[in-house]
Amino acid sequence: MKHLLNTADLSLAEATLILDTTAQMAATQSREIKKLPTLRGRTVVNLFFEDSTRTRISFETAAKRLSADVINFSAKGSSVSKGESLKDTALTLDAMGADAIIMRHHASGAPHLLARSGWVDVPVINAGDGTHQHPTQALLDAFTLRRHLGGELTPAGTTPDLNNGLGADLTGRKIAVVGDVLHSRVARSNVFLLHTLGAHVTLVAPPTLIPVGAHTWPCTIAYDLDAVLNDWQPDAVMMLRVQRERMSAAGGGFFPSPLEYTRNYGLDAKRMNYLQDHAIVLHPGPMNRGLEISAQAADSSRSVIVEQVSNGVAVRMAVLYLLLAGDVQQPTTDNTL
Ligand code: NCD
Repeated sequence: MKHLLNTADLSLAEATLILDTTAQMAATQSREIKKLPTLRGRTVVNLFFEDSTRTRISFETAAKRLSADVINFSAKGSSVSKGESLKDTALTLDAMGADAIIMRHHASGAPHLLARSGWVDVPVINAGDGTHQHPTQALLDAFTLRRHLGGELTPAGTTPDLNNGLGADLTGRKIAVVGDVLHSRVARSNVFLLHTLGAHVTLVAPPTLIPVGAHTWPCTIAYDLDAVLNDWQPDAVMMLRVQRERMSAAGGGFFPSPLEYTRNYGLDAKRMNYLQDHAIVLHPGPMNRGLEISAQAADSSRSVIVEQVSNGVAVRMAVLYLLLAGDVQQPTTDNTL
């Protein structure tokens, strides 16, 4: 594995290696001194063409915990706003000695273009491209699911197993992914990764928010949230943000009113009561409280939303470690400098 671009490209062995490495990284993060020397001397660039809070900070924290130097490049306020092309930006970063590029872009496929361009010869990690993919988010979701559902099922809110889900198995677990699937790279990445890990995914959304072609994905599609929660009894419910910025750019009209969306697709206290004792609730953030998820649901003991954020750091440490540490140059003993 040279790059991390798309969860559909990950084999079961690769996904399992990343998740097991994440378990080991997570174990180091409960120590008093969290920093490891693994990537000392390496430079990681956060190349962000689209707004982000948790993903950029999470990658930065992960790289720093591995002792790498981090350069944060955001398109706003850079030469990109003067019209510089991706090629020239990439050549500049390469000339400055970047060892890995973490890229978020509003255009689907942009990190793939960079990885295959030959402009840089370093690992490219996709941190979210348009409405296409967000592989590290799906990996942190899978890691969170493994911690809670990967072994014996215990009531939600109890302490997850101490081994961080090392070697855990999601085979046969049922995950409902609910909401704005159309605009969600998180949903796409999760469908393919969870399928590879042996779990069953049902997408639940109004027909207007299911993308064309979704029927070819390895999942089930449903339109009635109450029926899915009551009849299918998922082990986890992953709520998606209603991406209003992408909806208004497309002229709106995806659902009649926010109130009606909440009534049909919002996760609230009443719907939480349908869930089995062990079932957990996820959301990638940022949340629209009161729209796709109520405050009671977001803050309940079933919610693992805050834990997802800390798991994000461990997953990104694992990805950086696996892509970068393999080719660390060992200093020679006869170094005369
Ligand atoms: C997601 C994203 O940016 O794709 N958020 C995230 O990475 N934490 C989901 C979203 O914006 O709704």
